[in-house]
Amino acid sequence: MSDPLLTVAGLEVVYHTDAGTLPALSDVCFEVREGQIVGVVGESGCGKSTLGAALLRLLSPNGEIVGGRVMFAGRDLASLSSGELRKVRGRGIATVFQDPLTSLNPTFTVGQQMIDAERAHGQGRESKDVLRRRAIDALTRVGIPDAARRIRNHPHEFSGGMRQRIMIAIALLHEPSLLIADEATSALDVTLEAQILKLLKEINASHGTAILLISHNLGVIAEVCERVVVMYAGRAVEEGDVYAIFDRPLHPYTRALLAAVPSPQHRGTTLAAIPGRVPSLLALPPGCKYADRCAHAVAVCFAREPASLARGGLRVRCFLYDDSLPAADKPRADWAKAPGRA
Ligand SMILES: Nc1ncnc2c1ncn2[C@@H]1O[C@H](COP(=O)(O)OP(=O)(O)OP(=O)(O)O)[C@@H](O)[C@H]1O
Ligand code: SF4
Ligand SMILES: [Mg+2]
Repeated sequence: MSDPLLTVAGLEVVYHTDAGTLPALSDVCFEVREGQIVGVVGESGCGKSTLGAALLRLLSPNGEIVGGRVMFAGRDLASLSSGELRKVRGRGIATVFQDPLTSLNPTFTVGQQMIDAERAHGQGRESKDVLRRRAIDALTRVGIPDAARRIRNHPHEFSGGMRQRIMIAIALLHEPSLLIADEATSALDVTLEAQILKLLKEINASHGTAILLISHNLGVIAEVCERVVVMYAGRAVEEGDVYAIFDRPLHPYTRALLAAVPSPQHRGTTLAAIPGRVPSLLALPPGCKYADRCAHAVAVCFAREPASLARGGLRVRCFLYDDSLPAADKPRADWAKAPGRA
């Protein structure tokens, strides 16, 4: 198997706030291989966007990476100068965010913004005509009809779905090997969402662009991803092949999350809501961060944080799978009393 394109190892991120230091990510580990589509899923506030931003060292000013490593194409991103990092942003790793209106400047035409983006990432020596041609090609590739004319329009003259396509076109201008899409379809209606997901899959298939798809929507992840990282309270609690995790989730949180998604197969059954709330990151309990909501929790779960364990090709952070614990101390997998489908 090829070396991973992206390796995230033990990543720790904090935000410095007036209320104290908020640990947003703790010991996050996963890999993205060339051409792979990896999903990151979890409830609001679990650290998905922090992860996306930390990978490119684009955290807000009060955010800080305090541990771990991010290796991209064999290089430790922490060791790069700001000039080298600028080259990685755009040409190596590009990003697309949820709301294209906040990323596009309303006062400039789409064409001008695309040309500026090309210049910012080192293609400034080429003539304006060449840059313009490349921008038109990029817009055509993401399905903007009549791109040669539309390039003269301002962002507000496009629909929401078209603006998201424009953002994807900008991200792809430099043929990045990894695209980070953070809730890139969440603001769209289901039809547009399906179109954008199809576009991402096509780009992945035709150009071998790896994609890190951040979404709170398990349906979106199931639709396009090969692997998935399930996040909870800043931790990766389960990680592995998307089919394996959807078929036989190991972590009680993943199981509960899947049971909370409506599906035609389970028509007529009650959706299982996850009891309780995600703990505040400013006052995290000492043990497993899911313990307060978990039907299997036993004393050890409240006392210690479980490590991430390899189990049947997946990685899971739960004492249910920790064979080093004496049987009497171990939680029991009594799934009948937990939210989840049998
Ligand atoms: N600049 C910041 N300062 C302080 N806390 C922050 C900052 N940005 C994010 N946080 C906190 O860090 C945690 C993780 O936030 P993040 O935005 O990464 O979550 P998320 O999983 O992307 O959520 P959502 O699904 O709502 O987008 C949350 O508790 C959030 O309140
Ligand atoms: S069984 Fe224990 S370790 Fe596993 S998720 Fe539940 S509380 Fe956490
Ligand atoms: Mg987010």
